[in-house]
Amino acid sequence: MVDSNPQNWRAADDFLAELLVGSDPALEAALAAQRDAGMPEIEVAPVAGKLLNLLVRMSGARRVLEIGTLGGYSTIWMARAVGENGRVVSIEAEAANAAVARRSIDAAGVGERVDIRVGRGVDVLPTLVGGFDLVFIDADKESNTAYLDWAAKLGHPGTVVILDNVGRDGEIINDATSDTKVLGTLEGLRMLSEDPRFDATALQTVGLKGWDGIAIALIA
Ligand code: DHB
Ligand code: MG
Repeated sequence: MVDSNPQNWRAADDFLAELLVGSDPALEAALAAQRDAGMPEIEVAPVAGKLLNLLVRMSGARRVLEIGTLGGYSTIWMARAVGENGRVVSIEAEAANAAVARRSIDAAGVGERVDIRVGRGVDVLPTLVGGFDLVFIDADKESNTAYLDWAAKLGHPGTVVILDNVGRDGEIINDATSDTKVLGTLEGLRMLSEDPRFDATALQTVGLKGWDGIAIALIA
């Protein structure tokens, strides 16, 4: 038996990523640029990036909204999936992050498909025109309910909504938590449960990013 511990979760995740994702110079360059810029290495894992790419293609999404660009890693995965005439609007609060992402996305050859809007989500979202087919929320967890509300407003029946980081090392079942990221995550999950605009589920993940998870919802 292989022990279930974070080191082995990572090793198994590396195995799956090598097998099913493989080497990808543009994505690896985006991660190197992010690291060199001193940005946090909290992008989605390679297997999750590919999941985003597959979800965009499975749903036939042509207009994608991302909240939280960071270094553009997940943005590139989704921009590749929307097709030549598809578009990704990605919101990033930090101008310096957006500049790094812009260069990496252009270098990946999908620059014309990606519109990065610099500003806080709650300021940028009201300025967007709706009609998004898929929304990926991966920003400040404290604003998850605001982002979900905007996803519903800017989407349409059938829009796919993906919310990152819903496992948080199991802290979602710690009733005593005062961590605002966990509390924001829980509020987002409760909204997905109670708000009739969403039909949702969530999956826990272990791997490169420890013990975490993603929620996936369909807008009614
Ligand atoms: C954090 C944020 C993320 O989006 C992520 O994937 C992992 C961690 C964080 O802020 O702690
Ligand atoms: Mg995340």
